[in-house]
Amino acid sequence: MTGIRPPLGAYGRLAQGAQRVLRDNWTGSSTVPSRTLYPHQWSWDSAFIAIGLRHRSPRRAQRELETLFTAQWGDGRIPHIVFNPAVPRHAYFPGPDFWRSSTAGAAAGAPADTETSGIVQPPVHALAALLVHRADPDASARHGFLDRARPRLAAWHGYLLRARDLGGHGLVSAVHPWEPGMDNSPCWDAPLARVTPVPPGTFHRADLDHGAAADRPTDLDYGRYVRLAMDYRDGGYRDGPATDPRFAVEDPGINALLAASEHALAEIAAATGADPAPHRARAARLTAALVDRLWDPAAGLFLCRDVLTGTLVPERSAAGLLPLLLPDLPPAIARTLVRTVRGAHFGLGRTVRLVPSYDLLGGAFDPFRYWRGPAWFNVNWLLERGLRLHGETAAADALRTAVLETAAASDFAEYVDPYTGRARGTTSFGWTAALALDLALDPGPGPSPG
Ligand code: SER
Repeated sequence: MTGIRPPLGAYGRLAQGAQRVLRDNWTGSSTVPSRTLYPHQWSWDSAFIAIGLRHRSPRRAQRELETLFTAQWGDGRIPHIVFNPAVPRHAYFPGPDFWRSSTAGAAAGAPADTETSGIVQPPVHALAALLVHRADPDASARHGFLDRARPRLAAWHGYLLRARDLGGHGLVSAVHPWEPGMDNSPCWDAPLARVTPVPPGTFHRADLDHGAAADRPTDLDYGRYVRLAMDYRDGGYRDGPATDPRFAVEDPGINALLAASEHALAEIAAATGADPAPHRARAARLTAALVDRLWDPAAGLFLCRDVLTGTLVPERSAAGLLPLLLPDLPPAIARTLVRTVRGAHFGLGRTVRLVPSYDLLGGAFDPFRYWRGPAWFNVNWLLERGLRLHGETAAADALRTAVLETAAASDFAEYVDPYTGRARGTTSFGWTAALALDLALDPGPGPSPG
């Protein structure tokens, strides 16, 4: 790596291991989440990876994000996968032949010369861009990094708020379970049950060539994921009530990350001589809409709302804790969220090493299966930040230590059993390495949202 190299500090060995993963997963213009399971560029993975890369090479962190921005569609969406044409076409499913973005997405402004998926992932990019900038503000200013990033980020947020407010109450809806990034969360079970799966045997799951079936979503879920993606593609990736989506869910994770990213975009605007006020106003509106639409006082966290039935989904997912990232959350709600993270359903400081992706007491809890219970490092990184932001310093410090120790002991696992910390999924996983590196080298966000 090049650029500024601060000392590696107390976690020197771990930081070296993390850097090895990031070096091995680097393609020359971006970083793959995993050489085997995910051999292309993923949207929110790249944002988290840039947050780690910034410590050792701010230039490479900028490049990571700018490669992703190059694949942005004309309507503003940042696709969840950018395909690398050098990777064999059967290495990942659904690949470029399935999504056919350059033709099926042409009317929505998909790039003609890059193949991408047509769905999106959580908008954590403005937060990443701000943190990357802050790693070396002079070099960032010299290269005009924020000047180029700001209009991209504004168009991205604009797409989500304009085209994806399917419920009409100021929150973004996901139209596919992969969009909130928590693919097989039990929160999707009821909304997804309405979707007719494509017949088994009509596609080949490349993920099972590299991951244990017990750690991955089921075939039935995959049949439904494929159906929803096919229908969206065949409708030209058009959004809005007229296109009659069969899955539309307001997810607290996506919306909290958008609000946090609007706060970051306000800082980016201020740093580039633009007006931060509209971004602050948007962040405040999103926070108010989250509280109004998704807060469940009885459950003590935010829930998902199924837009097609109008009802809250009675499942506790770690996504419902992520609004803790927001500085302007009503203090009583922040206090309740902290109690919930530490309570029996999520067990932090009591029964688990890391916060699970789903309710420990929930009927669908499974400590191994992808987003139905395992602990993920990005979620724990976000919660560490949220706890610190709300003055829970001791809990944040303990979580930071647990993340670092578990990342190192699991060879930078994709996810882990929340109780034992044992690796599940794949190892040498990009964001695990990057976020461990960040926690090893960064003292934390301090009192400001950035
Ligand atoms: N996370 C999904 C996968 O497993 C889609 O991005 O491939």
